[in-house]
Amino acid sequence: MNDGTHTLTVQSGATTTKLAVGSRVSVREALDTTRLRVRAACGGTGTCGACVVRLLSGRTNPPTLAEYTKLTAEERAEGIRLACQLRLAGDSEIRLEHPAAPSPWLSIAAEDLLSLDAGLPDLLEHIYGVAVDLGTTHIRVSLWDRKNGRRIATRRGANPQARFGADVLNRLVAARKSEHAHELASLAREAVIAAVHDMLARDVGEVTPMLADIGHVVIAGNTAMLALLTGRGGETLLDPENWQRAIDYQPSADPDWLSGWQSDWHLPNARIEVLPGVAGFVGSDLLADLLATGIADGPAATLLIDVGTNTEIALWDGNTLHITSVPGGPAFESGGVGHGMPAEPGAICAVRRVDAGTGFELQVIGGDEAHGYCGSGLLDAVAVLLAAGVVKPSGRFAVACPADGYRLDPANARTAITGNTVDAFQRAKAATAAAIAVLLAQAGIGADRISRLVVCGAFGHHLNVANARAVGLLPELPNATVELFADATLGGCEALLVERQSPGRLARLARNLRLINVTLLIWYEDRYIEELRLRKAKATD
Ligand code: FES
Repeated sequence: MNDGTHTLTVQSGATTTKLAVGSRVSVREALDTTRLRVRAACGGTGTCGACVVRLLSGRTNPPTLAEYTKLTAEERAEGIRLACQLRLAGDSEIRLEHPAAPSPWLSIAAEDLLSLDAGLPDLLEHIYGVAVDLGTTHIRVSLWDRKNGRRIATRRGANPQARFGADVLNRLVAARKSEHAHELASLAREAVIAAVHDMLARDVGEVTPMLADIGHVVIAGNTAMLALLTGRGGETLLDPENWQRAIDYQPSADPDWLSGWQSDWHLPNARIEVLPGVAGFVGSDLLADLLATGIADGPAATLLIDVGTNTEIALWDGNTLHITSVPGGPAFESGGVGHGMPAEPGAICAVRRVDAGTGFELQVIGGDEAHGYCGSGLLDAVAVLLAAGVVKPSGRFAVACPADGYRLDPANARTAITGNTVDAFQRAKAATAAAIAVLLAQAGIGADRISRLVVCGAFGHHLNVANARAVGLLPELPNATVELFADATLGGCEALLVERQSPGRLARLARNLRLINVTLLIWYEDRYIEELRLRKAKATD
């Protein structure tokens, strides 16, 4: 690779994994975004000496001062290095000498994070802060030094509430039973605090004493997720009559409730702020996205789409933000589909046709054998199968398709795409495309007038915009108009932790909204049915 990215081959026990690693990140940072982990307890400052690996071959930076301090001359001569100090200058191979125990929490890749130039220098105590994006499928958390405006660590992991159903409706129904409601709330809360402990243990070096230094926790999510988290408002959300109005899931009037939560989490000094949503069907995750991407500070006719199990959409017309949300199902987050998996090593993140035929080139995160598709890989797979004439615009296969699916790599069963997978994708795509069309029409803006299109959420930085247009997910727009923000919701929460002006900006955003429940509009249904077809988006009516 010649773009400053090198291949790192990692041996751990009997497994060998290949990773693409940029020369600016340490080997430890790269490993932390995968299920391969070294031990660590100092945040990569080189002071704990726990992250030892053996360099087997390759070109790297010379040992640093920290490695001269922490490793003996004998160890250095044998190729032992500290992973947090090790940077690649060429393709290299290492062996993990003492791998850490497996963890459900991975670091978020640096390129997916928002850069924030902020801080609260006047802060004298409780300087740590925690940002939480509580997603239906995944939870993302970051730990900040608020005083110095420094992001200490990040984590992402699956939302354990999924055992009650992949979508919010199943979980809300389950929560009608009080014991399930309690369990759903506990699962989410325990997951968040587990991520915080993991960051403190590995990136600060101590857990219990540091919990008292956390002064602020900001949590955003869709309204159902936050209602399930707080245990309030879930029943109300089951009645569609209530989706247009704000749901009071914040028990701020009940001081005992908050102190109970602080004591459960052992965060005696933390202000726990669960951001209020806009309405039952539009959550605070969208507000956080708007804050992070600043679309209402920019030109008119800007469209923001936060792709996920529930896709939320905002359109800025220069005066008002028109907003809506639609449940598309978890296909874009690789949930509920055969061979779906998160965007981590082994996931097919991109697919390309070879020589305009029915041969396909699969790009796998980590460069190793494919184990399944993440959201962007699934979108590409459907788009290339459509372009190759293997799948028709109706979603049916045009060729004989084995019962276990059509393999994009004939030698690998985990690359098979089934009719059910295409169907799940079509439904998610149709819900999103129809909602965009309705929102544009309601604001009186033609798709050709969109000046900026911001895509947040599930696809991250791997979204192939041309393929998204080819299947009709995104309107026909020049590539330059499209910007990708992988973790905007987390970024909005982070801004509230460290930027003094952010709470005021958020309040102004919330005053400037026009809610549109597209599912109540008759022509949304018609448009949804039309949009089930895989083809370029129709012009807006
Ligand atoms: S010395 Fe590398 S993480 Fe502590």
